[in-house]
Amino acid sequence: MPGADASGAAVGGSAAGGSAGGGGRGLGGGGAEALRIEGLWKAFGANQVLRGIDLSVAAHEVICLIGASGSGKSTLLRCVNLLEGIEAGTIWLDGQVISGPGVNQNLVRRHIGIVFQSFNLFPHMTVERNVTLAPTKVLGLSRAEAAEQARVLLDRFGLAEKRSDYPDRLSGGQQQRVAIVRALAMRPRLMLLDEVTSALDPELVAEVLDVIRELASGGMTMLIATHEMGFARDIASRVCFLEDGQIVEQAPPARLFSEPSDERTRRFLRRIVDAGRM
Ligand SMILES: Nc1ncnc2c1ncn2[C@@H]1O[C@H](COP(=O)(O)OP(=O)(O)OP(=O)(O)O)[C@@H](O)[C@H]1O
Ligand SMILES: [Mg+2]
Repeated sequence: MPGADASGAAVGGSAAGGSAGGGGRGLGGGGAEALRIEGLWKAFGANQVLRGIDLSVAAHEVICLIGASGSGKSTLLRCVNLLEGIEAGTIWLDGQVISGPGVNQNLVRRHIGIVFQSFNLFPHMTVERNVTLAPTKVLGLSRAEAAEQARVLLDRFGLAEKRSDYPDRLSGGQQQRVAIVRALAMRPRLMLLDEVTSALDPELVAEVLDVIRELASGGMTMLIATHEMGFARDIASRVCFLEDGQIVEQAPPARLFSEPSDERTRRFLRRIVDAGRM
């Protein structure tokens, strides 16, 4: 039932968005709200995958989504990026409603970078062209402007010498770093990262996590689905534990990992510890 919410029709409806959604921000930090999700329900057929997700993300916050396989982490990210239609609920980006009818989805996606486990670089294009393509085609940058931007970004993430290489000449870690740079080249307001290290050999994980740390210290707002608990503890301003399509508990990592308040969180973390993954 898209449009069931009161404000679903207005993409530019900032008056109806953001703080008017009710419930208060509850962020403590006082920063502007980058993303707000209220009452998000998503089903695949009879399978109710997200069941009333509420989440508020302040600008520059880094939120890690943890939870067992199938708990709905990827689906939540895909809903935020409008890759999935939703049954109910409202999503705001920078105070503007982006869910529901009448929204220019391509415009919204332009402001949200998403990187998946599989890097999906264009194999027939050099690293530089992978990074400059969308900014020239979509943002209207000149080739020279886009190349300069690519140079700065590739340099920042230690990929300067790979500029002219094709993706198959790069390691998995390097390819994933290029994929992140490619998303950044669109100057997104928000980055969604879905298990970006889980296809990598263990020795390549650290370099990708370093890139994400660098992004976080640069103030990028991020929503990160991850099975890397140590990383989540290290980088997140808040960790959300999902089970069966609900956010069971959310807290700063020091609290969530050390003194989880919900029995379901405790059970999940015990399993992680027993499996030697934390
Ligand atoms: N395109 C789809 N069609 C049908 N069902 C889907 C689809 N995508 C996801 N699901 C179902 O939605 C549920 C949540 O899946 P999702 O991929 O969001 O979980 P996840 O938390 O990301 O898991 P993982 O940790 O394994 O990545 C699962 O039951 C899954 O089978
Ligand atoms: Mg997933």
